[in-house]
Amino acid sequence: MEKKPIVLAVAGKGGVGKTSLAAVMVKLLVEAYPDKKILAIDADPAVGLSTALGVEPELTLDDIRKEAVEAAERGDAGATVEVLGEARYRIFDCMIETGGFSFIAIGRPEAAGCYCKINTYLKEVIASISDNFDYIVIDGEAGIEQINRRVMEKVTHLVLVTDSSKKGCDVIKTIKKVADDLVMYEQIGVVVNRVPSEDVLSYMDLGSIPFLGAIGVDANLTECDLKGKSVLEIVDDTAIVTGMKKALAKLEII
Ligand SMILES: Nc1ncnc2c1ncn2[C@@H]1O[C@H](COP(=O)(O)OP(=O)(O)O)[C@@H](O)[C@H]1O
Ligand SMILES: [Mg+2]
Repeated sequence: MEKKPIVLAVAGKGGVGKTSLAAVMVKLLVEAYPDKKILAIDADPAVGLSTALGVEPELTLDDIRKEAVEAAERGDAGATVEVLGEARYRIFDCMIETGGFSFIAIGRPEAAGCYCKINTYLKEVIASISDNFDYIVIDGEAGIEQINRRVMEKVTHLVLVTDSSKKGCDVIKTIKKVADDLVMYEQIGVVVNRVPSEDVLSYMDLGSIPFLGAIGVDANLTECDLKGKSVLEIVDDTAIVTGMKKALAKLEII
């Protein structure tokens, strides 16, 4: 049987910890599978995963998409096909290779209304490069857009993230409902992040979403933020790392 990559994605309301948790996922995968090919994708136009992972991409997917469009606008129809073909190779120019993982970022399309184009492109990019990897971690845009546009279609493990707010829970329940139709996931679950205490869990309505774990307020993240430090440097016995490890174990990833 053909080998399929495991594609993990985080989704949820803005500010709930998606990027931080995605970075910790990458850390845990790199540690667990040093010989596997791991790709981290920053799919959020608001960016952040690069900082969390301590990488600095010079070129983003939006840059090469724009190049291709501009070249096509200058040339004739024949050139368009060529340019789009070449854009496929250019994807690898955007890719940063570190010791343990590769990284690619969608970038920051500056004009409003550009997002749907870059999302369509991102979907193609994921489809065309995913076979080169064993594990892919996608840090998604806040909300439901990328689920709706089927950018997340190939995700095998969808990790919904919420804080203890009702709004956060409502967002993940909506995402689950849409994902049930539009994402071919094998497993789905929720990580409740930044809980002030475990007690609040009993007051939360997570609907039918399987519970993967809760993570308390972690001062290590505050320190990362303060110093612009990479989340990869956070040591093992901290709330965020142990919490995420349990969640990945429940998903049978590690
Ligand atoms: N468990 C936690 N404890 C303390 N701070 C956290 C925790 N999770 C996330 N944060 C902080 O909250 C902010 C938002 O997190 P982030 O991962 O960027 O969220 P998102 O990607 O969902 O917008 C960041 O400053 C991050 O360091
Ligand atoms: Mg983020």
